[in-house]
Amino acid sequence: MALTKSIHGEWSSRFAYILAATGSAVGLGNIWKFPYITGENGGGAFVIVYLACVVAIGIPIMIAESMMGRRGRQSPVNTLVTLSEEAGANKNWHFLGWMGVIAGILILSYYSVIAGWASAYVFKAIFGGFSSDATVIKATFDELMASPVQLVFWHTVFMVATMSVVMRGVKSGLERAVQLLMPTLFALLIILVGYAMTTGEAYFKGLSFLFSPDFSEIDGDAVLTAMGHAFFTLGLGMGAIMVYGSYLPSGISIAKTSLYIAGADTIVALLAGIAIFPLVFANGLEPGAGPGLIFQTLPIAFGNMTGGWLFGILFFVLLVFAALTSAISLIEPVVAWLVENKEFTRVKASIISGIATWTLGVSVALSFNVLSDFKMFDKTIFDLLDYLTANLMLPIGGFCIAIYAGWIMQKKHVREELDLPEQQFKLWEVLVCYIAPGAVFLVLLDVIGIL
Ligand code: PFF
Repeated sequence: MALTKSIHGEWSSRFAYILAATGSAVGLGNIWKFPYITGENGGGAFVIVYLACVVAIGIPIMIAESMMGRRGRQSPVNTLVTLSEEAGANKNWHFLGWMGVIAGILILSYYSVIAGWASAYVFKAIFGGFSSDATVIKATFDELMASPVQLVFWHTVFMVATMSVVMRGVKSGLERAVQLLMPTLFALLIILVGYAMTTGEAYFKGLSFLFSPDFSEIDGDAVLTAMGHAFFTLGLGMGAIMVYGSYLPSGISIAKTSLYIAGADTIVALLAGIAIFPLVFANGLEPGAGPGLIFQTLPIAFGNMTGGWLFGILFFVLLVFAALTSAISLIEPVVAWLVENKEFTRVKASIISGIATWTLGVSVALSFNVLSDFKMFDKTIFDLLDYLTANLMLPIGGFCIAIYAGWIMQKKHVREELDLPEQQFKLWEVLVCYIAPGAVFLVLLDVIGIL
């Protein structure tokens, strides 16, 4: 018998859910990762492939994942147990929930370290301002990377902030935080785009880099990178949207809200690109600078421009906010499971999962300095965790979710939950049964080196 309500509480409105789920989707992936991978992959054509992946793979899987959450109304692990009982399916499907719980901890452990870099830059922006000299900026970044104390300190600050929001629970913690953070984020991005417009010719160079496609820049790897990023940026494949869906009251359209969320996520990524690339071109910087792009190059732009002190602060505050609303969704599946199965209070569950994640994160922070020579499979701890989660766990999770929603659950239950007009349902069905899992399968083949 399906639950009608989650024991953890519910979102107070459709808008609250949209804000929370958008908060989960919008994060470092949009503002830190999207610009640098777009820069590395030549711009416009990559953006088009990424957008196609969001539409054809991301949105159908997002609908599937939140639908499963709302039907099961528990943490992903227990939701899968309940749904499998209802569908008469093998109970071992709950491994999928477990993979999500583990992926959430692994991702948050390094996500928090990078969010820590952004927090450190807020501090640097406020108290030092940024130099206009590229070598000084690079030295500042290198100095941060070389300092275990600073990296661990900022990682700790970010984890404490995350867990103190999660502790308060769905209504007073998550919901209130995202209601404040998301609109602020949008406002800050619009201000930054407004500034980018004042860069004259560079603004048009930036726009043209982002939006005029040159398909000769695209190879198989770029397509697969774009596809993998669609998962990461929408926060799919590990139960984050599933657990948020489990707090969604009945009667709210899952398909419509998923479209809004994916739309908002995409707009933020594009706005970030529109804000960043004109600054990159105006200052003669390199679009393909890699993961250090925003930390090593944007401060030069902030150091050069009038009002750069303020814009620098705003930008990094924005990045920390965006990371925080994603971080709370990364840990929520774990916390919900501890509350359900171990009968912990939310506070105790948050502290325990926070400490576990923090501990792993310390090793990630150290992998940039004292542990930089410690390698497994030729990768540092940071590289390994990033590879394991983004390249393997999220795609495998997304593939299984598509298979589960498309092939394992009974059609009548899926129809009941989605409540879509027949033609739209059929379209979703084709996407979730064939297109999305087929495409993800190709990603996985690439990851294991068969393609
Ligand atoms: N979507 C987040 C970002 O773009 O930064 C990261 C993320 C959140 C990944 C939640 C996975 C997840 F379940």
